[in-house]
Amino acid sequence: MAIRKVGVVGCGLMGGGIAQTCAQAGYETVVREVNQQLLDKGLARIHDAWKIMVSKGKLTQGQADETLARLHGTLDIADFADCDLVIEAVIENMEEKLRLFPALDKTLKPHALILSNTSSLNITQMGAVTKRPDKVCGLHFFNPAPVMKLVEVVKTISTSEETVETVKQFAISLGKTPVLAKDTAGFIVNFLLIPYLLAAIRMLENGMASRDDIDTAMKLGCGYPMGPFTLLDYVGLDTTLWAAEAIYDEYKDPLYAPPPLLRRMVLSGMYGKKSGKGFYDYQ
Ligand code: CAA
Repeated sequence: MAIRKVGVVGCGLMGGGIAQTCAQAGYETVVREVNQQLLDKGLARIHDAWKIMVSKGKLTQGQADETLARLHGTLDIADFADCDLVIEAVIENMEEKLRLFPALDKTLKPHALILSNTSSLNITQMGAVTKRPDKVCGLHFFNPAPVMKLVEVVKTISTSEETVETVKQFAISLGKTPVLAKDTAGFIVNFLLIPYLLAAIRMLENGMASRDDIDTAMKLGCGYPMGPFTLLDYVGLDTTLWAAEAIYDEYKDPLYAPPPLLRRMVLSGMYGKKSGKGFYDYQ
């Protein structure tokens, strides 16, 4: 199936990065937000990224202008009507997704695919509220989406082989390397990454080492690009909490139980880099 036009629901950190990636890869791209203020903020972030790429010589001004012309912001889900594929990257809240999927199902043409960028919620359940569960699967990007090479293609028990193959080819066309995962909470990356991040928080809670020493240890001792606290702030503490809760909910494995400090930081609005405060300050 040929993909010509792509829709992205949500222009936050992930949705914006995904829309940027799709437009850069040559796809006509529509990105939707719930209000003008969030849309303007998300589009401004993308435009800034393109300005930096031009200043670094990674894009010519002409290419940046063409890419910009391929990206359209909207507040109206009806503007997805002629998309061949829509990727949802809205808040990690199942009720929100269960409202969105039937609306997309009604709006899109019968051939169109509906993909979720969820990092750990049940995609089978999202497919089940549409009349096209065979055309629903996960396409999970990593932050920053335009840079990170991996995507997880997540197959539910209802996703057809044809959908999986189309989505894999689409991922390759974006310059990504797809890996295939079953629809189980956390897929591959978060099933492994979340316990590591939560263990770092527990070490801090227990006074075993300082924030800076834990970060330095993992950067220099394991060659990770970021220590766990820098990465937690970068991914978002709210996102990490939702992912941990979703995986804990599925397996009831204490490895995934959110540490008290994480929950309290999120309750206090300390989401990490995006809110200006997390384990580090970004003011
Ligand atoms: N658009 C285009 N290019 C971008 C960009 C964007 N939005 N953001 C960064 N870049 C580019 C930079 O311009 C830079 O390009 P050059 O190398 O050509 O100069 C390059 O990416 C690297 O960026 P920086 O120089 O700013 O910084 P860095 O070298 O320290 O790398 C990083 C930054 C890529 C984020 C690196 O630190 C890293 O890989 N960190 C780990 C990130 C990670 O683990 N992400 C996954 C988190 S888990 C997740 O997302 C899933 C989940 O469900 C929770």
